Amino acid sequence: MPLSRRVLVVGSGGREHALAWKLVRDGAEVIVAPGNAGTAAIAENVPVDAGDIPSLVELARRRQIDLTVVGPEAPLVAGIVDAFTAAGLRIFGPTARAAMLEGSKLFCKQILHRGDVPTAMFQQFRSVAGAREYVNAREDMPVVVKADGLAAGKGVFVCQDRESALAAIDSLSSDPLCATAAKGILIEERLDGIEVSVMAITDGRTIVTLPPLQDHKAAYDGDQGPNTGGMGAYCPTPFVTPELLSEIESRILVPTLHAMRRAKVPFHGVLYAGLMLTAQGPKVLEFNARFGDPECEALLVRMESSLLELLDAAVDRRLESIEPPTWREGASLTVVMAAEGYPGPVAKGLPIRGLSAAEAIEAATVFHSATKFSTDTALPSGTIVSDGGRTLAVTAVGESLAKAKLQAYSAVREIRWQGAWCRKDIADKALAFERAAAAEADEPDAVGGIAKGEG
Ligand code: AMP
Ligand code: GLY
Repeated sequence: MPLSRRVLVVGSGGREHALAWKLVRDGAEVIVAPGNAGTAAIAENVPVDAGDIPSLVELARRRQIDLTVVGPEAPLVAGIVDAFTAAGLRIFGPTARAAMLEGSKLFCKQILHRGDVPTAMFQQFRSVAGAREYVNAREDMPVVVKADGLAAGKGVFVCQDRESALAAIDSLSSDPLCATAAKGILIEERLDGIEVSVMAITDGRTIVTLPPLQDHKAAYDGDQGPNTGGMGAYCPTPFVTPELLSEIESRILVPTLHAMRRAKVPFHGVLYAGLMLTAQGPKVLEFNARFGDPECEALLVRMESSLLELLDAAVDRRLESIEPPTWREGASLTVVMAAEGYPGPVAKGLPIRGLSAAEAIEAATVFHSATKFSTDTALPSGTIVSDGGRTLAVTAVGESLAKAKLQAYSAVREIRWQGAWCRKDIADKALAFERAAAAEADEPDAVGGIAKGEG
């Protein structure tokens, strides 16, 4: 079967820039709607909003698009796949009903329960009063308070004590974004452990599990500060060994897909499991119905085989018949550069300098997460300015994780704009873990020897 030639990527972030970048390398002509200043350099941007499904259908028809790939969750939950399919257009991703796995945390819990998939224990409430009453009566803290629906990353609060849990419940009902999402409230036990992201591509029958990654959700170094969309990622993570990855596949991914099929909601697209590696084994924190961001950026720079071929095969339900994807040896690492104030309100329109110097570093690729060309006549034409919170996803590859980190931060150092900041410790825990494992391999008896000597 011939490869799709003309591909539409829907979205405007770093994930969509990385998708477009890889698909161009795979030989596709790529259109991005609406895209950003980064995608404009490698593909054609068309100013149609990612939420405007009728216009996207019209665009795909008019431009004879062979394959559409959707970045963000909102259009999936709103039914973009259903609308494209009804119009006879090929699109990669889950239907609106299947995207409820991400769009409704309660639906997700029901599926996990049906599939007997390990996850945090939870209670569900239909009213703020009921949730408050439960927290007031509950003995043990901490808990996690979650809005049922999509809340643009604002609907989850990890709470240490009763006071903060009550405050979280109140803010779910007062924040307009969360209030719509919080038609239902979940209160969950807090899981402790290492958090990892495992994504798989599926055509509903076959699954292709991708290399495991780790995101960094907290805003500041040392996992301090508020929750964000993700401040950096690296691939692969040593915390998921090949054995653990097959356990995750057989105990979590496959049973979830079976449970979806049994519920008559077959899932196609990217199944993204946010997992906590607890003392009792991996447990599901959440499912997403799309590629993670910034996970996608760190993943795709390592992909050697064709993404286009993989997505084509998934859409045509013939994943079973293609060779598994291949990955560059070594590792990759993405550092998110954010605007001052993120994850709160940010200033936009600030000129970004040093992008060419960063891109001149061979191992590095600068994906744009929120940029545009300035329309300010006082600035030289073509000036790229910041246009959101997470602004750039600076990514690099290396023979080792340490080398990928060095190259990514070398690129970061070239880039500046007023108020720009990033986490400085992406992958540090993994590097410490690797060092400890290497030391143990070099001197297997060292620790025991000292202990014996002292005794
Ligand atoms: P979610 O959108 O459900 O993934 O939640 C966002 C973030 O909150 C996750 O990436 C975790 O860091 C944290 N989180 C969510 N649920 C839990 C839980 N049950 N225990 C500990 N942390 C959690
Ligand atoms: N990086 C987390 C997410 O994409 O949801």
